[in-house]
Amino acid sequence: MRTDSSPTTIYRKDYTPPAFLVDTVELGFDLAPARTVVANRITLRQNPASSSHDIVLHGESIELVQLRLNGTRLEAGDYTLTESTLTIRKAPADVVLEIETVCAPVENTTLSGLYVSNGNFFTQCEAEGFRRITFFPDRPDVMAKYTVMLRADKAAYPVLLSNGNLIEEGDLGDGRHYAKWEDPFKKPSYLFALVAAKLVCQEETFKLADGRDVLLQVWVEEGNLDKTDYAMQSLKNSIRWDEERFNLELDLDRFMIVAVGDFNMGAMENKGLNIFNTKFVLANPRTATDIDFAGIEAVVGHEYFHNWTGNRVTCRDWFQLSLKEGLTVFRDQEFSADMIGTDSGRAVTRIDQVRTLRQAQFPEDAGPMAHPVRPDSFVEINNFYTVTVYEKGAEVVRMYQTLLGRDGFRKGMDLYFERHDGQAVTCDDFRAAMADANDRDLAQFERWYSQAGTPVVTARTRYDAVKRNFDIILSQRGQAGQQPFHIPVAVGLLGANGKDLPLTLENGKHEKGATTVVLELTTQEQIFRFRNVDERPIPSILRDFSAPVILEYDYTDAELLHLFNHDSDPVNRWEAGQRLAMERLLKLTAQVAAHGDGNLKLDNTFINAMRTVLTDETLDPAFRELALILPSETIIAEQMEVVDPQAIHTARQFLRRTIGAALKPELLAQYHANQTPGEYSPDALSAGKRALKNLCLSYLMATPDMAELKLSQQQFESATNMTDRSAALVAMIHSGAEAGPYLKAFYKDFENEALVIDKWFAMQASAPTTDAAAVRKLMAHPAFTLKTPNRARALIFNFTNANPSQFHAADGSAYAFWAEYVIKLDAINPQVAARLARAMDRWRRYAPALQAKMKQALEQVATQKLSNDVAEVITKALA
Ligand code: ARG
Ligand code: ZN
Repeated sequence: MRTDSSPTTIYRKDYTPPAFLVDTVELGFDLAPARTVVANRITLRQNPASSSHDIVLHGESIELVQLRLNGTRLEAGDYTLTESTLTIRKAPADVVLEIETVCAPVENTTLSGLYVSNGNFFTQCEAEGFRRITFFPDRPDVMAKYTVMLRADKAAYPVLLSNGNLIEEGDLGDGRHYAKWEDPFKKPSYLFALVAAKLVCQEETFKLADGRDVLLQVWVEEGNLDKTDYAMQSLKNSIRWDEERFNLELDLDRFMIVAVGDFNMGAMENKGLNIFNTKFVLANPRTATDIDFAGIEAVVGHEYFHNWTGNRVTCRDWFQLSLKEGLTVFRDQEFSADMIGTDSGRAVTRIDQVRTLRQAQFPEDAGPMAHPVRPDSFVEINNFYTVTVYEKGAEVVRMYQTLLGRDGFRKGMDLYFERHDGQAVTCDDFRAAMADANDRDLAQFERWYSQAGTPVVTARTRYDAVKRNFDIILSQRGQAGQQPFHIPVAVGLLGANGKDLPLTLENGKHEKGATTVVLELTTQEQIFRFRNVDERPIPSILRDFSAPVILEYDYTDAELLHLFNHDSDPVNRWEAGQRLAMERLLKLTAQVAAHGDGNLKLDNTFINAMRTVLTDETLDPAFRELALILPSETIIAEQMEVVDPQAIHTARQFLRRTIGAALKPELLAQYHANQTPGEYSPDALSAGKRALKNLCLSYLMATPDMAELKLSQQQFESATNMTDRSAALVAMIHSGAEAGPYLKAFYKDFENEALVIDKWFAMQASAPTTDAAAVRKLMAHPAFTLKTPNRARALIFNFTNANPSQFHAADGSAYAFWAEYVIKLDAINPQVAARLARAMDRWRRYAPALQAKMKQALEQVATQKLSNDVAEVITKALA
């Protein structure tokens, strides 16, 4: 919401319970795009936990028509109405409020509240969208039972949906119809949803473990019914998984997923009526890649799992967001891993999680928007749906499981639901359940919630051949003034033969013969002694990435090669390869910066290591692909004091070209060996083969000859699925080869598939040959629009976030472009604009000439009249 007053900061310490609680909510909607009338009848009662007698309702961008208190119409002097609140002072203890308001969904481009997308009505209420629909105490600790009556034109909106169960429907005679829905569970307002639309559904009856039959539906636009199978299958898998792993059952008779093309985020867990970005519902082999299929499984799981972790037990206030998000991300990660089922498949999902953390969360935690997993303050809560709250939050939950074991974690979950079902609680309540169920002291663990930044763990080792002791000395450092964290560090020791040594940890309790033990680092420095160690071992530290930290250890190349070839822990095996690559990338980058790219060299040791992993048929193709991907330009940048994006790009490209040339025969052989003929299946093994094959292609295309170009063209022409087709096209575009005709053909084939057109924009936006001028040209394309977040993100965000060498062009042209579109987007959709604004987070780390231009762009945005969302990001960046 735009205001002229400077934005206010809200503090966690200022939490007070609501003065009034709401028992029931009856909503009536007369839906019309330009003018929707909302009748809201709520019963409130004084909260014994509060000393205030004032009813405070939130309301934004809605027009109050009428207000009644216990049947009496209130006049202007009986209440106070501001831009964002309606207050009734000294209210009686029991109150029925009847509130009539009007809003204009078709004009709502913020996609928060009630809005129109492609002619249909949808809602998005988390975090504070309900107040854009009606006046209400719009805070998660106010939980009530909802009944919803929807009325709309029958021809235009044949489908009328809301939370819970359909209890009545019928015609109104005048071409309009109605539907009445009742949600049997108490819920906070952010979980309210309605849909009024012309949609069709795939549906199925599904038997729960307790024998009940439930109706599952996936609602989409008519032309998309051929893309709902995977979402439906993922939903059924999610239901089964939660029954088996956590004994949590679906508590409704009906569960609906609805796809919408205009959506700010991934999806939303509204009770019984999940609303999804089409990107996370629609897929068939022709239109969706393996990554899209995996995303659908994860997000369908995520939203379904929220039904318990988020809905049945919700957050007391928005500072506790990670209570539901960190936990639910952890659950969806475990779900995806269990769906693959193999240890190596599980490891591949874990490596992906580590990559996300390093690519996005570590930079966030080191930048101007850094915040603890449980923030202490915010200006705009929508800015805190972050990788820190979500992904680092999931790491924090994972550490409980690492410390307590799977069974211990499950006991903690059971106690959490036993204590808090139906309540709005805090992160401390979750931690207490984990501690109490396992009789453990987790007081120090609280610091993971309260202290921001990525801790650095430094390891040193010493071996005493006479006493046969091997010591690992771990120390930790957080940010200035921070207290030590409770860090689980999983460790194994490798012998010269590459095998794990059986471990005996002095003063430690672990199974006899264990080859991995979890060291608990709780002070600034600790010594851990392993006994009966016959040879100087090579330590494998932070196995399975057991904590979200940066590990420093002076590995020699020989040790890293040993780990890269032998570590039984696939995450650390991968990690050794990343360290080998990073060392070289940093050296090469420094060389480029100092002397240009004339005389760069790469050692054979590294090439040979890459060759070995590429050709090791005993390894999962998915693992080999991950092991061969070099650290991204963003991750390299995070390692440098002063970032030189051009030098990084040149160095990394040199490394790619050198690998491509040196391993050409092996890359070609693997390219052919990892074809997946026959019917497409998104399963992990097939997807892994395609990933490896397409990575081989991209290396081969790093210095394309006619033969490689041919290969790409052939793959493009003959591909039977989107994974292979888009990979071929990306390989062409990103190698700088002439791809014009192929881009044209691709566009024509998929003109009517919005999600594929997004890919078409995205692959051009991230090509290292695409500069700001080229992006502007793409924006003039008739298919481009700023109003649909998916489209804006595809083109603009992929340029600003996934094309660093062009975004940081020396002339500053891309920064000016960024400023222009932050401002333009802010007028349409502040949430999306604020995400774009964050592309400048790390501006202080760049070389002085770039830094000055970035600052100028930030300042230019700062001079505008901005939403709270963008203002918070820009102010913090410049602070
Ligand atoms: N609770 C949703 C999810 O993670 C996210 C919705 C947040 N939306 C927003 N506009 N902040 O599943
Ligand atoms: Zn979520």
